[in-house]
Amino acid sequence: MENKKRIFSELLHEIKKIIEGGSERDLKLQSVCVLLKDKVPYYDWTGFYIVENINKNELVLGPFVGEPTEHKKITFGQGICGQAAQLKKTFVVQDVTRETNYLSCNLKVLSEIVVPILKDAVIVGELDIDSHTLAPFSDEDRKFLENTCSILSNIF
Ligand code: SME
Repeated sequence: MENKKRIFSELLHEIKKIIEGGSERDLKLQSVCVLLKDKVPYYDWTGFYIVENINKNELVLGPFVGEPTEHKKITFGQGICGQAAQLKKTFVVQDVTRETNYLSCNLKVLSEIVVPILKDAVIVGELDIDSHTLAPFSDEDRKFLENTCSILSNIF
């Protein structure tokens, strides 16, 4: 992708506009999924998992764009999503076949990035992106998606 820096900067601007709009949280999250999937060619599945009840240590599938997944609930610690939630840190997996703690949704998926959404240091959700490309994520993707999640924490 040409000019990642410029595209990510424009997308961040669009995301801020979505967040400042009047609709309810899940509609905003859905719009962010659509935008990311449409504008970044190697983002093939974009979605959110939500922590509905922190005492349950569980992620619940929220708005997403892409093929349906059977992983509608994920316990903290399970898979890439569960590990990111447990450790409250971004997971970048450039080749999912090398990750032993991985929950497969679709055989076309080759790589994945998961970014937690933190509010006052508590995990409230996460952004999950699957790609059909091997090793597509650079440090620019990570920074862009971490910035996105930092802004999104305001609507949780
Ligand atoms: N692959 C994820 C599960 C969620 S799907 O990608 C939508 C994981 O290992 O946690």
